[in-house]
Amino acid sequence: MFAVQADGVSLATVEGLAPSAIELHPLQHSFWELHALQCGFCTPGILLTAEALLKENPDPSEEEIRDWISGNLCRCTGYHNIVAAIQDAAKKLNSAKS
Ligand code: FES
Repeated sequence: MFAVQADGVSLATVEGLAPSAIELHPLQHSFWELHALQCGFCTPGILLTAEALLKENPDPSEEEIRDWISGNLCRCTGYHNIVAAIQDAAKKLNSAKS
């Protein structure tokens, strides 16, 4: 998408994911805790994609996570820890609701 196509549209960026400057979003915390990134090039896109997934499906299966993030290419991690981190964040978010 060209920037001009986003004129007037609300955009979410990874910088806006955390609730404050000193607190990580559960997804960010899980990625950090479970070593779900290496170079970090893919991380913003995967975090925002995962956030959208967890809003639509708070308890996704591994297969659903892998399908949902399939548009984001990570050349470093092999996805194992990314999927584990998304599952971990889902648990944290769900336990915070109850
Ligand atoms: Fe390097 Fe994903 S962590 S591309």
